[in-house]
Amino acid sequence: MKDIEIINLIKAEEKRQQNTLDLIASENYPSKAVREALGSIFVAKYAEGRPYKRYYGGMENVDKLETLVGERALKVFNLNSQEWAVNVQPHSGGVANYEILRGLLSQGDKILCLHLPHGGHLSQGSAASLTGRDFKPVYYYLDKNGFLDYDAIEKLAMEEKPKLIITGYTAYPRKIDFKRFSEIAKKVGAYLLTDTSHITGLIVGGVHPSPFPWTDVLMTTTHKTLRGPRGAMIICRKELEQKIFTKVFPGLQGGPHMHTIAAIGIALKEAMSPSFKKYAGQIIKNSQTLALELKKYGFNLISGGTDNHLVLVDLRNKNITGKLAQELLESAGIVTNKNTIPYDPGTPFDPSGIRLGTPALTTRGMKEKEMKLIAGWINEVINNPKEAGAIKKKVQKFCKKFPLS
Ligand SMILES: Cc1ncc(COP(=O)(O)O)c(C=O)c1O
Repeated sequence: MKDIEIINLIKAEEKRQQNTLDLIASENYPSKAVREALGSIFVAKYAEGRPYKRYYGGMENVDKLETLVGERALKVFNLNSQEWAVNVQPHSGGVANYEILRGLLSQGDKILCLHLPHGGHLSQGSAASLTGRDFKPVYYYLDKNGFLDYDAIEKLAMEEKPKLIITGYTAYPRKIDFKRFSEIAKKVGAYLLTDTSHITGLIVGGVHPSPFPWTDVLMTTTHKTLRGPRGAMIICRKELEQKIFTKVFPGLQGGPHMHTIAAIGIALKEAMSPSFKKYAGQIIKNSQTLALELKKYGFNLISGGTDNHLVLVDLRNKNITGKLAQELLESAGIVTNKNTIPYDPGTPFDPSGIRLGTPALTTRGMKEKEMKLIAGWINEVINNPKEAGAIKKKVQKFCKKFPLS
């Protein structure tokens, strides 16, 4: 049976993605091999439990698969299995963060995390999330220039004595000093949870410092700079394995998504190739070029620039809010997301910034030259909204030169 309605929606989405510029920092285009694994027959298999300790029969291939993918996850971070344990079953990043907190803490325990409007993620102790309701979040803030203030974080940690500290963010354009975070955590006897969802591809590509051996637990989604399927994984010190992994299953999840795990395995193998290192480096060259060009056009950037894959633009001097800018840019075929900026006078629904990221455009093969062009279009649209239609045509023509594979 052909489901024309759904097929048409898939085709329309293919067309939308092909004809627009995806500057959403958390999105990327996984390879065809990754997408094929997602559509593989592993989708039909239940596999509750851990490799070689399952609750169903028919496990000869899934056990090998999950073991192999776990080995690759450790290898990509240069870790050994004597000291570190890995779990590739979490269905998504938000759930994985909650699983970790429930594994390591008792309800009501204090956690220290970056305030959501300053670049943290909902699942890192925000009031709207169970991670903020079941535990007692204390927030740290970026300094007035948009940088992490390690001395202030240390002081707050000493005063508050949290049981766990979270680093790794959603909208922070600068490098993170994981060693310093680890020193702060040790000083107050807290666990350190590092959420590298956004920057895992940069870490394994060698263009951002690694959180190992500094962190106690790492959580990462697999679909951002890592360029895998939507999913997540957890790596923790061996002695924490039991506490955390029992919260993944049976604590919160049932059967793992074996087709996703197969696709994560492919993405990890791709990430170990020399071409991925080049890709990771190009992501940063592209975001730094974009940042520089936008600054030339008079855009204010939080922290003044970027060390990673994203640029956070403060639009207040442009007399437009983040919501309107997102809508306007989208009408020109440039897809972004509105974002709060530190100390934002606006609201989460209508904040003062937009977040721009280069991972997806870099996957399409775009380089510095293209970033200059795109920065020019962004400037034109924001300054002269009437031009949006004309720019949309240019964007569509331009996108044809960079087909999605
Ligand atoms: C830092 C960080 N952690 C966790 C998540 C949540 O991941 P998911 O959407 O897979 O639940 C995100 C998603 O954007 C993120 O940026």
